[in-house]
Amino acid sequence: MASTQSADIEMASPRLTRTPLIAPSLLSCDFGHIAREVRAIEEEGADWLHVDVMDGHFVPNMTFGPPLVKAMGAVATRPLDVHLMVTNPIEYAPNYVAAGADILTYHWETVGGGSAAGARVTNRAFRDAGVGKVGVSINPNTPVEPLGEILDEVDLVLVMSVFPGFGGQRFMEEVLGKVTWLREQGYQGHIEMDGGINGETIGRCAAAGTDVFVAGSAIFGASDRRATMAEFRQRAAAASRPLEGGVS
Ligand code: DX5
Ligand code: ZN
Repeated sequence: MASTQSADIEMASPRLTRTPLIAPSLLSCDFGHIAREVRAIEEEGADWLHVDVMDGHFVPNMTFGPPLVKAMGAVATRPLDVHLMVTNPIEYAPNYVAAGADILTYHWETVGGGSAAGARVTNRAFRDAGVGKVGVSINPNTPVEPLGEILDEVDLVLVMSVFPGFGGQRFMEEVLGKVTWLREQGYQGHIEMDGGINGETIGRCAAAGTDVFVAGSAIFGASDRRATMAEFRQRAAAASRPLEGGVS
């Protein structure tokens, strides 16, 4: 009886079976000591390492090329979660895979002007490039519903909770409904939230169904990064836990 009930609960709320993953964004690390920062943040509790790739075209900023990602990968033991904020993701996918990206995420807005057909072509190209996990991301002002057609092709949906390009921006509450919608569709993959995540906002992200939490300034700006990540993990887990025992 108990196991049947538990299975029913899991089916109704797939997010409840997931462990929260904390993905510090290296955009906020000390660039003068990247290898040291990678080793330290892993030791302090990072699950994934979030790497923001910006091309100065899709977003008004520029960051990490493949050689720098390769240098991170040389010391990393955790998955490299590479977030491509670039206009031409297909062109660059092989280079980032070769550099060590384990998870590679493109922006929906960059493929076929934001179309399911464009996304299908990109998903296939990413798989052909040998990507471990394929992700698709949407900006705060991009509707989520069109992604419904390609959800079965992606391992991860990255919901931006700020406009991409810079760390340290304020969390946009209004994007939470996209996460709820994705879980309502029965999406079982990872849902990652990126931008303005901190101890105050993380619980609401988790309650909506997010299971991967990117945070740059809130982690790297903390005086105790280990304690901050532990607190994030605890808050994220607690936000979904009340439903786990079937609380009505
Ligand atoms: C923004 C990047 C984020 C950024 C998050 O374009 O995609 O990953 O590093 O930074 P915080 O957590 O400071 O908002
Ligand atoms: Zn990012």
